[in-house]
Amino acid sequence: MGVNTNNDFIVIKAAEDGVNVIGLTRGTDTRFHHSEKLDKGEVMIAQFTEHTSAIKIRGKALIQTGHGEIESETKK
Ligand code: TRP
Repeated sequence: MGVNTNNDFIVIKAAEDGVNVIGLTRGTDTRFHHSEKLDKGEVMIAQFTEHTSAIKIRGKALIQTGHGEIESETKK
């Protein structure tokens, strides 16, 4: 029996160049395992998996999930 992950996709649309979508590992050790760079207008569709327990988004983006929609911002 594997990890009970949710199959829902999350949609990330970059609102500026250089947005980073960072996958963090599942398990006792929480670390970055993947970083994807998106330029303005690019979209990434991702899931939580056996390997990915959290996703960090750095930069300005629109994020849509089954829990709703949120915008990430950059610090001024
Ligand atoms: N190989 C990774 C995994 O299966 C790919 C991945 C899935 C990923 N969701 C992600 C990478 C979210 C970054 C962000 O877990």
